[in-house]
Amino acid sequence: MGFSEAQEELVLRSWKAMKKDTESIALKFFFRIFEIAPGAKQMFPFLRDAGDAPLENHPKLKTHAVSVFVMACESATQLRNTGDVKVREAALKRLGASHVKAGVADAHFEVVKTALLDTIRDAVPDMWTPEMKAAWEEAYDQLAAAIKEEMKNAA
Ligand code: HEM
Repeated sequence: MGFSEAQEELVLRSWKAMKKDTESIALKFFFRIFEIAPGAKQMFPFLRDAGDAPLENHPKLKTHAVSVFVMACESATQLRNTGDVKVREAALKRLGASHVKAGVADAHFEVVKTALLDTIRDAVPDMWTPEMKAAWEEAYDQLAAAIKEEMKNAA
């Protein structure tokens, strides 16, 4: 079953509403990841080396959170257009390599997925519906599958 225009619209509309507040949404997303899986902190070199410095001060944290949101949005658009996720090949190779190097495993993608969905639900409670959840899930799952496939090649 293809990804519909309505599903793409749900993803893009909610992202547009959240975008104004990326800073705090990025932080909430990360805190949720570490709440579900405290061990995941160890994978981020800039956190591992940070000692007790507050997480809020890490610009890289925001970069990763925004990457996941933006790429899931792109994934939604591509799914609607072509039924497939086409991250540029070079970009996908790099993503595969960097996530293997960081020690990311399949289970972490599930943690990030749950954290992503929880973050969106809390950020746009008035928009949140089962349809919106399903659209983000599909966009994320397909993107994660493309990265995981590339991780196999990079391993
Ligand atoms: C690095 C995106 C899932 C942990 C990166 C980078 C991007 C990215 C763009 C920067 C390096 C590069 O471009 O290769 C994504 C997307 C994800 C995802 C789109 C899901 C669809 C995950 C998961 C984890 C994770 C599940 C583990 C909890 C990391 C770590 C780095 C990284 C540790 C290296 C950070 C650093 O060394 O500065 N990711 N990521 N990512 N990602 Fe992800």
